[in-house]
Amino acid sequence: MDLDAFTELLTPRGQRALAEAVEHRDADPVAAATSLRRTYDAALSSAALTQARLRERARAKFGADAELMYFTPHGLEQATRAEVAAHRATRLLSLWRSSHHAGAGDGPRVADVCCGSGGDLLALARAGCLVDAVDTDPLTVAVARANAEALGVAERVTVRVADAASVSPEDYDVLFADPARRTSRGRTFDPMAYSPPWPVVLDLLARAPRACVKVAPGIPYEFIPEGAEAEWVSYKGEVKEASLWAPPRAARKTGLVRLATLLPGGHVLRDAGAVAPTGPLGRHVYEPDGAAIRAHLVGEVAELVGGRLPDPMIAYITGDDPVDTPWAARYEVEEALPFSLKRLRAALRDRKIGNVTIKKRASAVDIERLRSDLRLSGTESAVVILTRIMDKPSALICRPGSPA
Ligand SMILES: C[S@@+](CC[C@H](N)C(=O)[O-])C[C@H]1O[C@@H](n2cnc3c(N)ncnc32)[C@H](O)[C@@H]1O
Repeated sequence: MDLDAFTELLTPRGQRALAEAVEHRDADPVAAATSLRRTYDAALSSAALTQARLRERARAKFGADAELMYFTPHGLEQATRAEVAAHRATRLLSLWRSSHHAGAGDGPRVADVCCGSGGDLLALARAGCLVDAVDTDPLTVAVARANAEALGVAERVTVRVADAASVSPEDYDVLFADPARRTSRGRTFDPMAYSPPWPVVLDLLARAPRACVKVAPGIPYEFIPEGAEAEWVSYKGEVKEASLWAPPRAARKTGLVRLATLLPGGHVLRDAGAVAPTGPLGRHVYEPDGAAIRAHLVGEVAELVGGRLPDPMIAYITGDDPVDTPWAARYEVEEALPFSLKRLRAALRDRKIGNVTIKKRASAVDIERLRSDLRLSGTESAVVILTRIMDKPSALICRPGSPA
């Protein structure tokens, strides 16, 4: 879909084509295309069918709003899911209000310097911010603008084609950046390969009165700027991203504040300097949420469950009593063995276990290969945890205790 086809999609004729494409969504793709081609030309038919399919895929991130919105394939893939964007927007607003003593009706002026199709932009506008957004890609800008119209926030939003580096963060209350983490070779985990590149992002962040930058959760700690608050966010147990929050310039200190947030529950865990003790394997094993692990808060999770680490280098926690917390999944240990295929196979057979969920940490075992080598049969289920305990490869046969 190019910019011309997308522009036509927004006309009354384009909207009719899109409505027809949505109606044909469950039909055979060739039949759907043939039907649309009876009325519309090839470019509009194809744009409408693509958009109808993208809307369906977008439901996972945007829920019912997806049926009103527009996407490009890359834009959808890179967009922040609605719940995560809403959390960030609410936090941005409350942090800003706390230092501006602003009334409920006022909203900060925010520059969104890599807006994409608008996942964050829309959440910021809905939260009450006035957003000036830019993106270097003209089609993406048209899509973001159409989304602001479609969701009724256009009066709070401007979107234009520009490079992030051309924005003056000094003109805004808050700068928000979500740099692209895709290169021509696919996803990148190297901040220097982000677009705009990391030095440009850091320069914008340093000049902004306040700032928030979204990054991949695996960002190496050495890239996190001094004085930032780094927040790792997981959604339904999967770590999605980290936000680096730069406080007002005058309040920036050295060091790093770490926290983790669980969505949709909204639980927050902060660095309290907790250090987990090391000790023997107990009756329960806890697997901390990935956001807590990335934020180096395993000690804080251990404190919550009254636990200890069976191995000081590995993020599994153990304890004697069951404690349920949203910060960790709990498994009840039925048997712990030194790892060997033969012993594990025999132990699972004895227990008539035919269905296993295999988890591993600090183990080089190929899970799918192991599953087939185990030649499982039986009616029972178990969770098998492969890890090292005091440096010895171990297998723990467990019963699921509680979901995180
Ligand atoms: C990760 S996406 C943003 C997603 C967005 N936050 C959302 O939730 O929909 C990054 C965007 O940055 C844009 N981009 C890349 N380099 C840029 C630059 N130098 N200036 C402005 N935008 C840029 C890309 O075109 C892409 O749309």
